[in-house]
Amino acid sequence: MDSHLQLLSRNKNWASTKIKEDPEYFTKMRAVQKPDFLWIGCSDSRVPAENVTETDPGNIFVHRNIANMVVSTDMNLLSVLDYAVTVLKIQHVIVCGHYGCGGVTAAIDNLSYGFVDSWLRNIKEVYAKYRVELEIITDRNARIDRLVELNVIEQVRNLAKTKIVQKAWMEGGLKIHGWVYGLEDGIIKDLNVVYDEVENIDEIYRYTNL
Ligand code: CO
Repeated sequence: MDSHLQLLSRNKNWASTKIKEDPEYFTKMRAVQKPDFLWIGCSDSRVPAENVTETDPGNIFVHRNIANMVVSTDMNLLSVLDYAVTVLKIQHVIVCGHYGCGGVTAAIDNLSYGFVDSWLRNIKEVYAKYRVELEIITDRNARIDRLVELNVIEQVRNLAKTKIVQKAWMEGGLKIHGWVYGLEDGIIKDLNVVYDEVENIDEIYRYTNL
C-alpha cells in the first residue's frame, strides 16, 4: 500500500476508536472551538504540539513554520495571532523551539539552502546579536542549542513588539511563554521568559495610541 493510503486507513481506525471510547466525541468536537493555547512551533515532524503535551484536539491553536519564527511582516503568523488573541481570547501564547533544530543548524553555517535562505536570515540576526555569548561556546552542538534558546527568547520579544499583543495587554491577561523541547528525552524546558506587559520590551517598540 502507498504510504499516503496508510494515513487514510489509520484515520478510519482512529475515528472508530474515538467513537468507541466516547460516542459523543465528534458531536462535542464540532460544537465549538475554544482552545486555551496558541502554540508557535517548528515545522519539524518530531515536535507535534498535541502529542508532546498529551493534549486532545480542541485545546491548542497551532502555527508552525521553520524554526518557530515570528517575523513582523508574516501575514500568515499575524493572522493566526490576531485571530487567537482577539477573537478566540486565548491567554497563553507559547513559542516552542527544539534542541537540534535543523533550521537553526542551517542558519549557523555559511551555506545556501535555496529559497529558505531569506527565512533563515532572521536566525542569523539573532546569532549576530548574541555573537559574543555564542562564540565562547566551543562545542558546535552546544552552541546550536544555545542559539535555539536565544532564538525562542527573541521570538517571544517579536510577539511582544506587535500591536496585536500590546492591544491584548491593555485588556489584561495575555502571557507569552518561551519553551524548548528536547528531542533526546521528550522533555520541554521552560526558559522562564514570561512577557505579560508592555514594560517587558524596549520603549521604542511600544505603541502609545492603541
Ligand atoms: Co526545527
